[in-house]
Amino acid sequence: MSDDAVIAVVGGTGNLGAAIARRLAKGGRKVIIGSRSAESAEKAAAELGFGLTGRSNADAARAGDIVIVTVPFAAQEATLADIKPHVSGKIVVDTTVPLVPPKVMRVQLPAEGSAAVKAQNVLGEGVTVVSGFHNVAAHKLITDQDVGCDVLVFGDEKAARSKVVELANQAGLRGIHGGALVNSAAAEAMTSLLIFINKTYQVDGAGIRITGELIEPDA
Ligand SMILES: NC(=O)c1ccc[n+]([C@@H]2O[C@H](COP(=O)([O-])OP(=O)(O)OC[C@H]3O[C@@H](n4cnc5c(N)ncnc54)[C@H](OP(=O)(O)O)[C@@H]3O)[C@@H](O)[C@H]2O)c1
Repeated sequence: MSDDAVIAVVGGTGNLGAAIARRLAKGGRKVIIGSRSAESAEKAAAELGFGLTGRSNADAARAGDIVIVTVPFAAQEATLADIKPHVSGKIVVDTTVPLVPPKVMRVQLPAEGSAAVKAQNVLGEGVTVVSGFHNVAAHKLITDQDVGCDVLVFGDEKAARSKVVELANQAGLRGIHGGALVNSAAAEAMTSLLIFINKTYQVDGAGIRITGELIEPDA
């Protein structure tokens, strides 16, 4: 991926989106934050700094080469429908964890099997959905500290997946290929376990680490 590829973060005013946007922009990437309100996006971008700019979700998606979607599960379908006209031929990175409040410590995957597969169904062919960032705590990612969390990345096209693995690395995390998009169910489900572990063991944002020595796969 060329480093001049524009990254759009739809829902980038929120916890996870702002954290990803800030880290990528700080690393020198061109990043645009999206919001339902262009004004909110501009305000959030100015507060985050690092040259970030803000637009409406649709305008951000139109301008982005890679579009990261960071909205709550309840807002996923409507948000994807909103950006669909602007993401044909692009990579859309879905970060949605299908939490169903109030029982967020229970795995409750959607009928499609995962939020990622649901995203692909909504966006249709011609859009390459990759998923990731499900297991990283946003309140840690927004800081400059070493989060020490792996990011499992799922997608049916290896080249697209590789670009998102690289984005995770650029955000100071360790991106790891997790295989096909259907495998996203594993990481999405894991988040409910992590929330349970946070509560049970009083952890400030548990994450995951793959053990063993990893040798980078061929591109
Ligand atoms: N927070 C974490 O630590 C974390 C970690 C891993 C994965 N995730 C996943 O990442 C996604 C985003 O999480 P988050 O904590 O960043 O969410 P959030 O802060 O609650 O919301 C993100 C943004 O989504 C937009 N939004 C909220 N409600 C909406 C609605 N009803 N319709 C359309 N847009 C709406 C808002 O942007 P505007 O009002 O500006 O439009 C908001 O700033 C979720 O699916 C979550 O499960 C979160």
